[in-house]
Amino acid sequence: MSEPTPITEQAAAEAVAQAIQAITAASNSAELRAARTSFAGESSPLARMNGSLRDVPNDQKATLGKLVGQARGQVNAALAAREAEVMAAEENARLASEAVDVTAVATRWRPGARHPINLLMERMSDIFIGMGWEIAEGPELENEWFNFDAMNFDEDHPARAMQDTFFVEPLGSHLVLRTHTSPVQIRSLLDRPLPVFVVAPGRVYRTDELDPTHTPVFHQIEGLAIDRGLTMAHLRGTLEHLARSMFGETAKIRLRPNYFPFTEPSAEMDVWQPNAKGGARWVEWGGCGMVNANVLRAAGIDPDEYQGFAFGMGIERTLQFRNEMNDMRDMVEGDIRFSQQFGMVV
Ligand code: FA5
Ligand code: MG
Repeated sequence: MSEPTPITEQAAAEAVAQAIQAITAASNSAELRAARTSFAGESSPLARMNGSLRDVPNDQKATLGKLVGQARGQVNAALAAREAEVMAAEENARLASEAVDVTAVATRWRPGARHPINLLMERMSDIFIGMGWEIAEGPELENEWFNFDAMNFDEDHPARAMQDTFFVEPLGSHLVLRTHTSPVQIRSLLDRPLPVFVVAPGRVYRTDELDPTHTPVFHQIEGLAIDRGLTMAHLRGTLEHLARSMFGETAKIRLRPNYFPFTEPSAEMDVWQPNAKGGARWVEWGGCGMVNANVLRAAGIDPDEYQGFAFGMGIERTLQFRNEMNDMRDMVEGDIRFSQQFGMVV
């Protein structure tokens, strides 16, 4: 046992003053717990004085007992009062930290957005829908027959090598990744009653190297119009309308004689690029022509009764020309900053 602690009014007052100072200074429940241990715990000065009461003469017991009791009462009251304050403050801080501000700006998750190529493909389709044409579709994994044979590519005609093809194994499956949207021509003719006015936007594949004007995976929009009495003039008018819708009223196109097995005559279509890198020039946009009689026959149509025209334009090229983009590679790299320039339409 420690020495008995003398019980005096001064010692008691000092113990209370120290305790209250520590209690007031405690700013959180941990500090308050420490103050409680030091000033109200078993080995605190007042607890020791209380223990010493045993040894005081009987005639002083009542007075000193009252003195110590009151001192301990003051300390306990101060502890209780401070505890209420500290707990209230801590509760408020907790509520504040957990509060939900319903007016706060939410953390923005970047939603995905439609790629400008898809948006443009839709926009081009809309131009035709506005003229009463319909949308047609075909598979990207296509039968060689639809991609080539029905389109009048001979078995070993060099034209088959014109479009560098991804053949699908096993080769006996006769499946290819379609090299153009033109197989949708024959699919539409087999599926639909005449007359046929369709556009077929979609993805196509070629073993082309990625460079500023080519990518191995790209998009085309195919057009096919079959009716009685359609001529090259209808083709030209349709393409001019498309070009002006895409590039403005002053857009200029040019048809250059060319060869495609599925059209006769055939042409390549160029667009005038006044702001092309390296100076103004004509740039190829697509291919077109009057549908070859053999394609009509493959679909069971009498070419003496029905005729028509077809065209196929590159969508990446269209985006390039519309936005004066010199490098097509920007379109396929998946950098969100590229799409953001187009307004990130979802
Ligand atoms: C064709 O694909 C023909 N099917 C077009 C056609 C349809 C002719 C109907 C007649 C009737 P061509 O291989 O030229 O043709 O491709 C057409 C357009 O696709 C090109 O003018 C170009 O705009 C785009 N294109 C071709 N290869 C690529 C490529 N690797 N990357 C991006 N665009 C390409
Ligand atoms: Mg071409």
